[in-house]
Amino acid sequence: MPYATEENLTDLALKQWEACCSPRLRQIMQALIKHLHGFVRDVDLKEEEWLAAMIWLARTGKMSTEKRNEFILFSDVLGVSMLVDAVNHRFPSGATPSTVMGPFHIEDSPEMPMGSNMAQGYGGEPCFLVGTVRDLEGQPVEGAQLDIWQADAEGLYEAQLGKEEPYLRAIFHTGPDGKYVIRTVAPPGYSIPMDGTVGELLKQTDISHYRPAHIHFLISAPGYHTLVTHLFKKDTRYIESDVVFGVKEALIAEFKQQPAGETPTGEISSKPFLVVKYDFTLSKSKS
Ligand code: BEZ
Ligand code: FE
Repeated sequence: MPYATEENLTDLALKQWEACCSPRLRQIMQALIKHLHGFVRDVDLKEEEWLAAMIWLARTGKMSTEKRNEFILFSDVLGVSMLVDAVNHRFPSGATPSTVMGPFHIEDSPEMPMGSNMAQGYGGEPCFLVGTVRDLEGQPVEGAQLDIWQADAEGLYEAQLGKEEPYLRAIFHTGPDGKYVIRTVAPPGYSIPMDGTVGELLKQTDISHYRPAHIHFLISAPGYHTLVTHLFKKDTRYIESDVVFGVKEALIAEFKQQPAGETPTGEISSKPFLVVKYDFTLSKSKS
């Protein structure tokens, strides 16, 4: 192997990884080396800048836990999470698009019967989610699982509040008509966590650190591509400046104000409430 020079270093590092047995790992590492070397050359990286980056990455690792992974947040604010999502979920046109998962999904939410209130006893504006899960031919999907999670009226998720009991998350299943109707409370827009290393970075900029009001859905059904998505509130604050680039036109839904009276679950509400009508369309998976 020739000795290293500024000119040949990239080629030498690429060649080193020819010895990688897994073709996929080799491809990934060689592309990473190519882009990282290009980045160092592009910005003429100073030693103290590289060291600061290494220290920042080490601190990001140290503060990450099972409940809070600051690297995911870093990937989110760089637009990498949405790009990975885009290249992995090229659904056919007509299917409901996916968006970023985010860090606040918790497995094994409680199963609730269709029509239940997943915000029983919690403050906030009553909000009803109503619609049908369909396939691309317009047929209802029976037995679709809707795993739903959201922020509370203060813009905080269960994981941020250290709750013992499940909080503002639940699983519902559609019947033969594919329909869903769920009661909850309206979530507000909120700031992403700013008390970590990503917040430190964003505070050096004028970048908005807010997300527009939304509700998360993970929808799965046998024979269909699993859909990880949100419904965003139409005309809400930050809808055009989502810090994690999650908004897609097709995911914006009207949260329609209704006067006091009969609700979609058949209860009589003495207070005005919101209704979100949205039909999800799943595409068939090959297997
Ligand atoms: C969320 O929507 O829950 C979220 C997504 C990305 C970063 C932070 C929060
Ligand atoms: Fe969220």
